[in-house]
Amino acid sequence: MSASAADRKKSASLRKQIWHHNHQYHVLDEPDVPDAEYDRLVRELQQLEADNPDLVTAESPTQRVGAKPIKAFGTIAHQLPMLSLDNAFNADELRDFHRRVTDRLGLDAESALSYSAEPKLDGAAVSLLYEDGVLVRGATRGDGNSGEDITHNVRTILAVPLQLMGEGFPRTLEVRGEVFMPRAGFAAFNAAAAKNDEKTFVNPRNAAAGSLRQLDPRLTAERPLDIYVYSVGVVDGGSVPDRHSEILCKLQDWGLKVCPERKVVSGIDGCLEFYADIGAKRDDLPYEIDGIVYKIDRLDYQQTLGFVSRAPRWAIAHKFPAQEELTVVRDIEFQVGRTGAVTPVARLAPVFVGGVTVSNATLHNMDELNRKDVRVGDTVIVRRAGDVIPEVVKIVPDRRPIGAKIVKIPSQCPECGSAVIREEDEAVARCTGGLFCAAQRVEALKHFVSRRALDIDGLGAKLIEQLVDINRVKTPADLFDLDQDGLMGLERMGEKSAINLLASIDASKKTTLSRFLYALGIREVGEATAASLATHYGRLRNVMDADEAGLQSVQDVGPVVASRILSFFGEQHNQDVVQKLIESGVSWPEADPAPAADDGHLSGKVFVLTGTLPTMSRDEAKDRIQAAGGKVTGSVSKKTDFLVAGEKSGSKLTSAQKLEVAILDEGGLEKLLIDQ
Ligand code: IVH
Repeated sequence: MSASAADRKKSASLRKQIWHHNHQYHVLDEPDVPDAEYDRLVRELQQLEADNPDLVTAESPTQRVGAKPIKAFGTIAHQLPMLSLDNAFNADELRDFHRRVTDRLGLDAESALSYSAEPKLDGAAVSLLYEDGVLVRGATRGDGNSGEDITHNVRTILAVPLQLMGEGFPRTLEVRGEVFMPRAGFAAFNAAAAKNDEKTFVNPRNAAAGSLRQLDPRLTAERPLDIYVYSVGVVDGGSVPDRHSEILCKLQDWGLKVCPERKVVSGIDGCLEFYADIGAKRDDLPYEIDGIVYKIDRLDYQQTLGFVSRAPRWAIAHKFPAQEELTVVRDIEFQVGRTGAVTPVARLAPVFVGGVTVSNATLHNMDELNRKDVRVGDTVIVRRAGDVIPEVVKIVPDRRPIGAKIVKIPSQCPECGSAVIREEDEAVARCTGGLFCAAQRVEALKHFVSRRALDIDGLGAKLIEQLVDINRVKTPADLFDLDQDGLMGLERMGEKSAINLLASIDASKKTTLSRFLYALGIREVGEATAASLATHYGRLRNVMDADEAGLQSVQDVGPVVASRILSFFGEQHNQDVVQKLIESGVSWPEADPAPAADDGHLSGKVFVLTGTLPTMSRDEAKDRIQAAGGKVTGSVSKKTDFLVAGEKSGSKLTSAQKLEVAILDEGGLEKLLIDQ
């Protein structure tokens, strides 16, 4: 019976989609749908073709894997085809496989057939050819029959031996394995690429494949690639053992890297046990794997079984839950973190990915959101690898609905309504609510009570979290009206601890202006700046009333710090907290402001120090400049008057030259310091 018109149309459409995805994956190293989606399309086509054999065409993607090699590299014909693997997506499919092989081998399904079980590494397959122990050629899998010549690139991978070790290796030995990018290297690579506005990779597998197919081997050399070999191809002028597991040991003896997580297991139960063991470890492995490969260990059995068009009959890949899936963005909301960072989060149609159901995924920050151009209504690839927070990797542009909504960062904090500000030099936008913002309370309180701030002994993180959770403490001022009964109702709080805690809260009320300013947790105001502010202004009121120019005349206070102080005290609720703290009895000795520093002859002059001066230490130079009324800052800008440059001056010298800032050596500084 020939196929219906509908099936014919369906199969043509599936073929077209699969071709497109193949090209994206194999040629461009930039898949536009997750593997799971690709697998579904292939399975659907396979099923259609199985039901309607007249639909099978020679060019059907079910008949061929991979893609033709790209021309930029030389082409290498594989003497033995580089096969693919059939997949089992669950234990039943694995049992079917076992039944098929035992049947064909004429064995009882219950018999203890040995399998070599190994992780299925998520990278790019390569063939390495050794002649007399010397690496002479490296190739990609390509379409399985011919691949690209990537000899120069594989030679840059430190884990690939250029010369085999030991003895007994065949004169011609082709080994096959997986080049991969370990998780840590992948994360670092992508972070650096994103920062430099360069291309990032969707996952470590594409990163490995893309890195191997760089035309310039120097670029490959910079990528953190590694390899595990997992089989042999051509063997001539010598032999290898007759069990797969023993071949792997031999390869290791010859200096090749083999995955340590491998085991010879017996029958289906052995396979499933290994699958569960590795599955439990999957998130902790330093590299990504997407399943377990079981290979019949005896080579004579492998030979008997042979292979079908694209995959051997003697091996199967038992897949783990996919780490990437497709879903739809229902909304994009903003979350406030404990440090005030306002992050976009995608609310998703729930999807099973990486072993859990995911309905939220981070979009990191606005730059990421804009770079990925994620809109409400978009279909996106979500990835959850290891215990990393699920993230939106990319959108599927073809599936964008009309009217997909672009989302902008809110100008007010969704938690507390304070202004959300993004500094020029920062990727994240932040809520300026500080103490007032519920999302930031715990961190703000921990800082407030810390040893170098108000120093409240006995008020640990756990206790603070409890007090915030039950809404007993909203701002630091609330700490001062805690009472014994209230405290004793808390977990692990006895009478004695409660009394002690109240005593230390009481003792903390007597403090200094410097500690108090530091305790408020104004961004960029560390202990040293707090101390400078306290000395300069003497009274809290003066700090709160200071304007930008005034603040910038304070030691250590530049434009960024000044703006943080201004915006902190600009919020009414921060002023309220300060007021309440004072009303609760928090106090310090107020002093007169320090005499204005304009009596020095270098008053108003801004200095930057760089390099090593011949006789004067950095601190000495700084003290003397300050004593003469000058100001020392950390970086060169248009406001810098002098750069004092010693030996080994670096980028500051270049910046000063560019900005035409006067440059002094030690002698020049000495002259300037002498008040004429
Ligand atoms: S054996 C004849 N072992 O999976 C068997 N393959 O879908 C051919 N892979 O192209 C491969 N880890 O890139 C084998 N331990 C492993 C593997 C592995 C990853 C990849 C390899 C292959 C693909 C097949």
